[in-house]
Amino acid sequence: MNTTPTTTQDTTGGPATGWWTEAVIYQIYPRSFADSDGDGFGDLPGITARLGHLAELGVDAVWLSPFYPSPQADAGYDVADYRDVDPLFGRLEDADKLIAEARAKGLKVIVDLVPNHTSSAHRWFTAALAAGPGSPERARYVFRDGLGPDGAQPPNDWQSVFGGPAWTRVTDPDGRPGQWYLHLFDTAQPDLNWDHPEVRAEFLDILRFWLDRGVDGFRVDVAHGLIKQADLADWQEPQEILSGAEVAKPRPPMWDQDGVHEIYREWRRLLDSYGGDRILVAEAWVEPAERLVRYVRPDEMHQAFNFEYLLAAWTAPAQYAVITRSLEATDAVGAPTTWVLSNHDVVRHASRLGLPTTLTGGRPNGIGAGDPQPDAPTGLRRARAATLLMLALPGSAYLYQGEELGLPEHTTMPDEARQDPTWARSGHTVPGRDGCRVPIPWEADAPSYGFGPTDASWLPQPPSWAEYALDRQRGVPGSTYELYRTALRLRREHGLGRGTLRWLSSGDEVLTFANDGVTVLTNFGSAPVPAPAGELLASSAPLDPDGRVPTDVTVWLRT
Ligand code: NOJ
Repeated sequence: MNTTPTTTQDTTGGPATGWWTEAVIYQIYPRSFADSDGDGFGDLPGITARLGHLAELGVDAVWLSPFYPSPQADAGYDVADYRDVDPLFGRLEDADKLIAEARAKGLKVIVDLVPNHTSSAHRWFTAALAAGPGSPERARYVFRDGLGPDGAQPPNDWQSVFGGPAWTRVTDPDGRPGQWYLHLFDTAQPDLNWDHPEVRAEFLDILRFWLDRGVDGFRVDVAHGLIKQADLADWQEPQEILSGAEVAKPRPPMWDQDGVHEIYREWRRLLDSYGGDRILVAEAWVEPAERLVRYVRPDEMHQAFNFEYLLAAWTAPAQYAVITRSLEATDAVGAPTTWVLSNHDVVRHASRLGLPTTLTGGRPNGIGAGDPQPDAPTGLRRARAATLLMLALPGSAYLYQGEELGLPEHTTMPDEARQDPTWARSGHTVPGRDGCRVPIPWEADAPSYGFGPTDASWLPQPPSWAEYALDRQRGVPGSTYELYRTALRLRREHGLGRGTLRWLSSGDEVLTFANDGVTVLTNFGSAPVPAPAGELLASSAPLDPDGRVPTDVTVWLRT
């Protein structure tokens, strides 16, 4: 363990420095990335074997979604043991090997930390059930007596993010109906009580466990949810999927409570006591940006996902507004801005942007076969333009596995294949997130498109995915993969991640900005627009014969 302290964020309020301020970080969803043993689930050895792809693509770091022992009630975001690897994904040694091989290839590794809740299979929760009301074991979770004469009503009216009540009643060891426990997500994900010192101590120890194994940081799940308003007051609003505080004022009693910040300050002190510039990244669905950036003040986390950017409509005014707001908000606290277009919880941007414009700024929770279908060519064209715009912005960008292939959402998945708890808990009304989690295609003509050695795939892959396979795109000029690769190379060469944005135009149809030596123009309008000379890269080629930039295209120009 290297114990040289290296703090790269200026705690006096100056701008942060360090690899992460301009990094491109690639999200790996382990169960869907690469399967080494043919069981239909991706695994850690599969990832390790494919790290060369990521080095070739040109990203700086990977973030791995959870691979810890778990009943997989929420695809691993229900953790039963924070210090091991689920046999589905391999063994602890495989994690060590992955970290070492990534480092050898110059890639940093960020792992997922799930502190808001454990799995109901976690030893703490089984002990809490066995120990009964009022016990120290129950105090680590949020147990309450029910309301009404026989306690048959839940303690408050909170709804689970996945649908249905956020409380479940337990059966006591004597067989009688007992107390209720809080779960903001699935029933299999009981919320921890973060006012309990043992919970705090345990997570500091879990952080140390992975820091000692050499990870470069943590993506912190539901970072805005750990502390609940002490009175657990009723909240009449329905819970939106993964919704944060954006829904309303006053702030909901379960999200973005001020008490979360002291937890992250303590974690930050721990990370700073390790060498190597290790980071904390907040998954916090919090609006407005001024509230979100409180998570990335100089003595707290390093980055927070910019979901407001992900959710912005594909129009020039909406993109101008969100980019400007994001930069101003993070500048105010000296943190880098982050950008993201896709992840394992949202409809892939190659499909989202192919929905009617009125919907592109929304957050459809999955697309089912009976829903209006995205226009695939429009979606891909806009996705490429959006990506090129994003990769020219100063700050750090997150990519989600498969987007470098232009992969769309699986929008016609048979309902019986769905596994997201949202589908069942919404009474089969909300398709949920399976469509963005389908195992990715590597080789067009191989079983499971090269995902693994057999045909097995935990979610069905659509037949159209052969055309997106990496081997159909590698070395093919104009392919989405080559576009990403070139963009990442040029981004690095021109230092765009650490540059400064200066708007040159912000009309209703066209946005133009300069980032140091590069001018970036996106045409959101319906007619081609003139572009200055000096093209470096275009999201779709060719430009029209007069060198004008067509609809839904971004160009980078050397200035
Ligand atoms: C956010 C994760 O990204 C999502 O996949 C998960 O379902 C919830 N947090 C609950 O852990």
